[in-house]
Amino acid sequence: MKEKTYYVCSNCGFKTTKWSGKCPNCGEWNTLKQEIQNKHKSHSLNIVKLDEIDLKETINYKTNYKQIDDFLGGGFVSGGVYLVAGSPGIGKSTLLLQLSKYLLENNHNVLYISAEESANQLSLKANRLNSKIQVLESNDLDEIVFALKQDYNIFIIDSIHTIYSSEVDSYVGSINQVRLCAQKLIETAKEYNKTLIIVSHITKEGIIAGPKALEHLVDAVFYLESDEKFNHRLLRATKNRFASTEQVVIFQMTQNGLKIVEDEFLTYIEDATESEGKAIGAILEGSYLMFVEIQALCVRSPFGMPRRTSVGFDLNRLNMLLAVIEKRLGISSLEYDVYLNVIGGFKINNTLVDMAVAASIISSLKKIIIQKNYVFLGEIDLLGNIRKIKLPDVLRKKLNSSNIKLFLHENTPNVESLLKAILQGH
Ligand code: TYD
Ligand code: MG
Repeated sequence: MKEKTYYVCSNCGFKTTKWSGKCPNCGEWNTLKQEIQNKHKSHSLNIVKLDEIDLKETINYKTNYKQIDDFLGGGFVSGGVYLVAGSPGIGKSTLLLQLSKYLLENNHNVLYISAEESANQLSLKANRLNSKIQVLESNDLDEIVFALKQDYNIFIIDSIHTIYSSEVDSYVGSINQVRLCAQKLIETAKEYNKTLIIVSHITKEGIIAGPKALEHLVDAVFYLESDEKFNHRLLRATKNRFASTEQVVIFQMTQNGLKIVEDEFLTYIEDATESEGKAIGAILEGSYLMFVEIQALCVRSPFGMPRRTSVGFDLNRLNMLLAVIEKRLGISSLEYDVYLNVIGGFKINNTLVDMAVAASIISSLKKIIIQKNYVFLGEIDLLGNIRKIKLPDVLRKKLNSSNIKLFLHENTPNVESLLKAILQGH
């Protein structure tokens, strides 16, 4: 049997055949550790017929909250492994304490394994949430693996970064620790058909020893994100073997935990006056529609080189939209300074507001006031066409019973029809 020697970095997981004092990938010193791999193993193949497999019964553990159960594809699946990622302080522990509470209220057996906060700290939080869940305080991998074999159906591990195995010769939270601990936990959960929910941190700059290293090991990956201004938390799936990843759940962080936002419309518009240069745009998240107010101010430029200033929207994209408006509609901004502002301090990194941006510019340049119930939803391409978008049925229904007039590809396929709509409403 041939053996091959590798060196694996205990910090970043980089693999090389040549030892050196410093990891060529992450630059850490003395982190390359020797590993030996057998090249030729004897194999025995276990080929089976799919229809003869004795399937383990899958159970869906529902929370009884429609938005969450729909998001999960009917509930948490037995034997399913879920990763919940988000930056520190965003509300992951709060969310999972609440989910445990809902599952418990629905007579599902949950154990919350806290490797990060003491049971005391958790009980303070749980009190605010009025929750009676059972907690195991542990960060020892062997102990947690033992716990997974006990008589609970759903296990929550908060978080993977604080779990430690003495089998790995590197510090808690390092990629090797995280990977080995996750692997062992997932193997055990699969073998015993338990639902496992693993919490993982991400950093603002990027991802350290985090979800990316685990994504391929788990069945579903959820991210909890925030919009700082309105205290909303958005639960989004980037991968889910049990459901589509189109759904999202939006919560509001309150004194008593996270409240599910029931309404499909997230209204950010505080002032409903009509004025030149103002347009309401929308962003689509699952079956939620978020509204944002865009303002444009175009004034004659005293200089040869007109200024373009944008707050909350990409400046390159603004320039592109100005070019499209000029080319397709013959409305030139060449002699104008253009100031664009997304109201409310939002930074919008979503091309679905293109149409609202274009509408606000046209409104300012042509001195046309846009009706206050007009909402624009769509990306504009270089040719001046509005991209197609699929509107969920619940939203369509809700829109029909509201006084909002939504402009999107199906009624406004290009910038010419956008101009026409603005002029007609005038
Ligand atoms: P936490 O769930 O501890 O975040 P994570 O686990 O992602 O690090 O949430 C911490 C924040 O949530 C903290 O700033 C306090 C706030 N919070 C509320 O506003 N209301 C509540 O009911 C709870 C439990 C927390
Ligand atoms: Mg936490």
